[in-house]
Amino acid sequence: MTLPAVTLTVNQVERTLAVPAQASLLTALRNDLELNSPKYGCGLGECGACTVLVDGVAARACVIPARGVAGRTVTTLEGLGSLADLHPVQQAFIEEQAAQCGYCLSGMIMMTVALLARNPDPTDDEIRRELSGNLCRCGTHLEILKAVRRAARLMRPVPAEAGKS
Ligand code: FES
Repeated sequence: MTLPAVTLTVNQVERTLAVPAQASLLTALRNDLELNSPKYGCGLGECGACTVLVDGVAARACVIPARGVAGRTVTTLEGLGSLADLHPVQQAFIEEQAAQCGYCLSGMIMMTVALLARNPDPTDDEIRRELSGNLCRCGTHLEILKAVRRAARLMRPVPAEAGKS
C-alpha cells in the first residue's frame, strides 16, 4: 500500500515523507529524517522532551500528527546551530553547564528559543512559568535558569555606542 505523501520544511530543507495517518511528527522526525534531538519522553504532550518549533512556535511533536504540519516550517535542535557556529541559546546552556543526563535538553533549548523570540528579557518568574512544562529529572533547574538568563544577555543587541572605540 502506498502511503500519502506530506511535504514540509524541516531545518530549512523541504522534505516529502510518506507517513501513516497515525504517525506523529516526532516519529517522522526521528525515524524518517534521523533527527534525534527531539526525545520521546511521555508521548502525551506532558514532559516537553519532544519540543520543536513549528512556524517558530514551540510545539510538542509527540502529539502532533506528521500530516498535520504539511506546508509548515519545523525547526529542531539540529537546525539551530552547529558545533562551529552555536546558537546563543546552545552556547549559554553549555557555558552554564545546564545539562546532566541531557534527555530534556533539546526541549528546554527549543522552549527557550521560542520564549526569547517573544520576550527577549524575561523575568525569572516568566522563565520558570515558560519552562514549567519541560521536566528535568536530574534537578539542573538552577543552571537552566541561569542559562536562559545568559542566553537573553547574549542575544541582546549591542548598543551602538558600545561598538565604538
Ligand atoms: Fe512529547 Fe513528552 S514526549 S511531551
